[in-house]
Amino acid sequence: MSLEELICTSGKLPADIGVPVLRNAGGVYNHRFYFDGMSTPSGSRPFGILAGAVNQSFTNFDRFKETLSAAALSIFGSGYAWLASDRAGRLRVITTPNQETPLPCGFCPILNVDVWEHAYYLKHYNKRADYIGDWLSVVNWQMVSDRYLLCRRH
Ligand SMILES: [Fe+2]
Repeated sequence: MSLEELICTSGKLPADIGVPVLRNAGGVYNHRFYFDGMSTPSGSRPFGILAGAVNQSFTNFDRFKETLSAAALSIFGSGYAWLASDRAGRLRVITTPNQETPLPCGFCPILNVDVWEHAYYLKHYNKRADYIGDWLSVVNWQMVSDRYLLCRRH
């Protein structure tokens, strides 16, 4: 079973193991996705087909950043904010609590930001907004674009 299949079918496991499996498999998936979505600061931004989708869904790149930042700031406690594609290729920002993922909801994720406090406390203390601003400058838009093109093929 792939990690994605394990996450999406964990609800069929007995409750006493389904929850720990979802938490741990989700944690692996979410952190892999998060770290693979970052690179050294480059000043890059969405390009090509992805840029068109960002503009269509959010008007422009600045509005997208505002939408994602607001969602990430709104998470109560621990979780992730995501940029995900729906089946029609439209982009949307969603949030998940704890180590849940957007996979069981049918969304194809292309970017996530970890807002568990452990992701930013050492540098930014409790200032989540400062962390999100820093994180936006290290997003690997090549990876996000590759993920979006893969979503469109499935
Ligand atoms: Fe984390």
